[in-house]
Amino acid sequence: MSSFPADGAELERLRSLTGIKWSRDGGEYLAAWVADMDLAPAPVAVAAVQALVDRRDFGYNRHAAQQLPAAFSDWQARHHGWAPPVDELTLFSDVLHAIDMALWLHTQPGDGIVLLTPIYPPFIRAVEHGGRRLIDCPLDPDGWQLDRATLESVVDERTRVILTCNPHNPTGRAFRHDELLAIADVAEAHDLLIISDEIWGDLTHPGSPHIPMPTVSPQAAARTLTISAASKSFNLAGLRTAVAHMGHGGLAEKFAALPSHALGGLSTPGAEATLACWTDGDEWLDEVRRHLTAQRDHLAGRLADELPSVGFQIPEATYLNWLDLRPLGMIEDPTDRLRRHGLVVSPGDDFGPTGNGWIRLNVATSRPILDAIIDRLVQAAAAG
Ligand SMILES: Cc1ncc(COP(=O)(O)O)c(C=O)c1O
Repeated sequence: MSSFPADGAELERLRSLTGIKWSRDGGEYLAAWVADMDLAPAPVAVAAVQALVDRRDFGYNRHAAQQLPAAFSDWQARHHGWAPPVDELTLFSDVLHAIDMALWLHTQPGDGIVLLTPIYPPFIRAVEHGGRRLIDCPLDPDGWQLDRATLESVVDERTRVILTCNPHNPTGRAFRHDELLAIADVAEAHDLLIISDEIWGDLTHPGSPHIPMPTVSPQAAARTLTISAASKSFNLAGLRTAVAHMGHGGLAEKFAALPSHALGGLSTPGAEATLACWTDGDEWLDEVRRHLTAQRDHLAGRLADELPSVGFQIPEATYLNWLDLRPLGMIEDPTDRLRRHGLVVSPGDDFGPTGNGWIRLNVATSRPILDAIIDRLVQAAAAG
């Protein structure tokens, strides 16, 4: 596709960007770590920001802020069969802000928050920084399924929240209906808040639909804070715009009682770009999803041929791949070893203690760059 030119000019372009993915390490490294895509953002988003620039239109935003809740609801209905009521939606600058605030408002130090591990590292920090208690609910490593009995067994009387991302980062699982129902049932039985971070919801692979948590049951809808953004799907992470559905009435009241600027203001470029994506971004997203599935399959094929001992379950969603490098003898710190071969990945132990010897690899790039990334992985493995 045109967004992924297949020559070395692409690497030069990436290395000229100011975003953290390519600029942090610089030099000759290949960046396959943080969850940004290498393709240029969706043209509709670029056009929306360009229109602001052309009009010198950097004032406090009104237009997009007014329209975003309805656009989000329509987008969810079109893509995921969920039409959240517009008056239950709140705009945030980013997903993690909404999560931090929800934990802060809904829990006290010492309260338990269940995480489905391995898990996106900022969730661990969000729990631990506030003095809350991390309750570990490990996913079954044989397929990364959520086991209802495990979830039931970890909840204690001071548990207040189940915090998850659906689809799941780093395993790439798109949770099935029965798994989400298990979360809803356990939450109902213990009167827990569910926080469902659905930022990856649009980026599923064929055969693995995204199921929004509030669609699982009316009870689930009434105890879930669901948060989403266009930032992963359309590659807008720096523009800072997110939307939350306040299904949980008690939490909604606590948010509504906050001082008027506690949630910060909206970014005009972020809001306009997000609105453009949720209004007109469908076709572009289809093309990107096809590319990401092809990248996933290419990685899987080369691993099977060249590094068959690496532990790898084909992801159902995201462009992230969770790889067990322990069979290659990379037990202590695979990340350092890969870095010596010019490859930067996300270290598995950031995702919880069971991540030791694992890495998270981002394949949202061009095919030639993905091949170069895999070549470096193979070289590092051969070097022993
Ligand atoms: C599960 C998950 N939630 C949230 C974020 C970040 O969202 P934001 O930048 O809106 O805080 C990411 C980024 O990779 C993510 O993977």
